[in-house]
Amino acid sequence: MKKKIRFMDTVLRDAHQSLIATRMTTEQMVPILETLDEAGYLSLEVWGGATFDACLRYLNEDPWERLRIIRQHVKHTKLQMLLRGQNLLGYKHYPDDIVETFIQKSIENGIDVIRVFDALNDMRNLEVSIKAIKKYGGECQCCICYTISDVHTIEYYMGLVQKMIELKVDSIAIKDMAGILTPDVAYNLVKAIKAVTAIPVEVHTHATAGISEMTYLKAAEAGADVIDTAISSLSGGTSQPATESVALALEGLGYDTGLNFEKLNEIADYFKGIKEVFVKEGIFNPKVMEVEPKTLLYQVPGGMLSNLLSQLKDAHKEELYYDVLREVPRVRADLGYPPLVTPISQMVGTQAVMNVMTKERYKLVPNEIKDYFKGLYGQPPAPVNPEIQKKIIGDEAVFTGRPADLLEPGLPELEKEYGQFVDSMEELLMIALFPQVALPYLKRKKDPFYDIPEQRVELYV
Ligand code: CO
Repeated sequence: MKKKIRFMDTVLRDAHQSLIATRMTTEQMVPILETLDEAGYLSLEVWGGATFDACLRYLNEDPWERLRIIRQHVKHTKLQMLLRGQNLLGYKHYPDDIVETFIQKSIENGIDVIRVFDALNDMRNLEVSIKAIKKYGGECQCCICYTISDVHTIEYYMGLVQKMIELKVDSIAIKDMAGILTPDVAYNLVKAIKAVTAIPVEVHTHATAGISEMTYLKAAEAGADVIDTAISSLSGGTSQPATESVALALEGLGYDTGLNFEKLNEIADYFKGIKEVFVKEGIFNPKVMEVEPKTLLYQVPGGMLSNLLSQLKDAHKEELYYDVLREVPRVRADLGYPPLVTPISQMVGTQAVMNVMTKERYKLVPNEIKDYFKGLYGQPPAPVNPEIQKKIIGDEAVFTGRPADLLEPGLPELEKEYGQFVDSMEELLMIALFPQVALPYLKRKKDPFYDIPEQRVELYV
């Protein structure tokens, strides 16, 4: 009997986030949705923090409406989203009532599978999300955020898996946001998980370092149930490896992928045209396609590398790039080796830039890093550097509980303050998550001319 492996295509989320700054519009997606639905994927990744934010910030689109439109056209394939646990789609902890309501609305508006992660792999930060996903009938996929350090052993990850089994998650994802999961570790980790549970395992990596196809092959050999790929025209580089290529290779090795290659061709041709648009507009930067084995050395996600470079460019300090790259692992060590994923990757990056620019480590410290050392993000994988902690927060007590326990319910206050601007709970949640961009969006929606004068002013500056 043929071995089975299923695919999730990331073209509507991670692929365009990684290659074209999440700028694909709903209008550009709609004509191909039915073909995507017929291609035999297990699921399509369609929603996440950056897609939600970019809709409001750059595309003047309602992210909820996008989700509903996709759902109307995709009737058979599961729709999946990425959620930052207690951080939802944002950068801080939200009160439990907001977390629960956001999850409820995501499922009501069409999401089937919620892939949930905590940047520190602190499972306490996922418990409320996991319960809410199950309560509202969603499928809960719980993440291991993959990173490399002395504490991140297979045994460490298996400790997380044990907690996931106890929490009765529906599937487990190995989330390698940086593209640093090597084929040998993928094999050993999937094998170890498969040895203790029948819960399906999905593997997510990026093609940045040039090893992703090998990683997927070894994951498949170890028994992975699902892998994440992107249709060829938006694959490779900082995106995922190509769906058709990986699928053909695996079919040749005796796997049944369930994919329809004719449909995949149609999808690839369609997105080739879309990509051309972004090439012409200069949004697609060919740099993202470079094979970058350095990510394996620095263990810094591709997106973080480009963010650091642009922060330094803004400060006219590009020559400090490699100093900052060397500082990143040192900051990460001081913080107890957190995985470099949102929001921690931005915090570590900013601190590294400050340490290098001021020529004195931790002379300037952003509030987020202070909160981190106070325990307000959760428990780091390893103990933090006690000297640095003392320098930053002095003798202040460190919180060791679940950070969201410190928060009062948030919805009543939101409703009081913003109720007048919104017509639905979905709109109120937009404000809860991205107040600076959601409010102007909603005002513009009601009055198309509301911010025209301000834009004019900007044009003449
Ligand atoms: Co990713």
